[in-house]
Amino acid sequence: MTIEQRSLPDPLIGSDGRKATTAEQWSGVRRPEILQLFRDHVYGREPVGRPEQIGFHVETKEGFMDGAAIRKRVDIRFEGPGGTGAFRLLLFVPANAAKPAPAFLLINNRGAEVADAERTAVSPFWPADYIVSRGYAAAVFQTEELDPDHDDGFENGVHGIFDPAAKPRSPHAWGTIAAWAWGACRAMDYLETDSDIDPNRVAVIGHSRGGKTALWAGAIDPRFAMVVGNNSGCTGAALSRGKRGETIRDINARFPHWFCETYKSFGGRESELPVDQHMLLSLIAPRALYVSSATEDRWADPESEFLSVIAAEPVYRLFGSEGLGAASLPPADTPVFGGGIGYHIRTGKHNMELSDWRHFIDFADRSM
Ligand code: GCU
Repeated sequence: MTIEQRSLPDPLIGSDGRKATTAEQWSGVRRPEILQLFRDHVYGREPVGRPEQIGFHVETKEGFMDGAAIRKRVDIRFEGPGGTGAFRLLLFVPANAAKPAPAFLLINNRGAEVADAERTAVSPFWPADYIVSRGYAAAVFQTEELDPDHDDGFENGVHGIFDPAAKPRSPHAWGTIAAWAWGACRAMDYLETDSDIDPNRVAVIGHSRGGKTALWAGAIDPRFAMVVGNNSGCTGAALSRGKRGETIRDINARFPHWFCETYKSFGGRESELPVDQHMLLSLIAPRALYVSSATEDRWADPESEFLSVIAAEPVYRLFGSEGLGAASLPPADTPVFGGGIGYHIRTGKHNMELSDWRHFIDFADRSM
């Protein structure tokens, strides 16, 4: 289905019918409106930003990756009305490259084995050694340390800590994707304090459900200079109107805890949703955005991921950026690097591989 056939809401036209014609108008009026629409209808409203009670406990050790990296293990501890919580940020900082270093923060929805702190196991899903060799710090945390990935009635994790008494829950209350994104923002709170890291050059990245999370984190937190959504699909980068593969109804049936309650009422009613996912991408403008697809990832729907990028471009153009600068889906394994947006479609399955990381870092080298 073409872009025109999808009848998308216009990211530039506000609820009062006025069209933003300058970056200032868009940032001042339309952007906050879109953000609120996503909070109300899709990801839910997080009850807290940076908590008053938050602390970082850092343990540093040298001599990783044949001396190329310093390891930091940072316990991020916080407290809310429902008790205390913590998650660990694992960080490898290049020992020999210029500092402060730029960084990639991975929201890891896979097992902890892909993020081995000892480096006895190495994984192309999080190729920390390669990231460090390119002069970037590699940071990672596990989503499930913030909030479990099953429907637990929002009793555990940060939901239980920050809105324990909220029963019945508001239909707009945050879901699990928003809880993980909140964690990425708290990781950023730490990174801002680390003199080895350049806080103005931190990219947030995730794959699949982690990719949806990275895009939402990038939308709510402008401190992220670059945002990467890999194979993020439904309620990630992919447009919902006209989407093939997974739909809003499918995702809410299988993962009822991911989004806010209101979102469930839009199953089969995509055209009535006041937003579509190109508007999520537009919230990242004018910062660097990278969307990546895979040829066999039909459930995510590469075409809907690509067209979403195209439909977000008018907002990049308001900022004087060309956006992606390609009108049609590029051939497989051929990245397109535009002024503000990068895109590629990799041959193969739903996954994140070393070749994907190469393209992300090449784009970061010129954009962040
Ligand atoms: C399921 C889900 C997708 C999600 C994926 C993943 O397939 O339907 O929306 O992206 O899991 O996180 O791997």
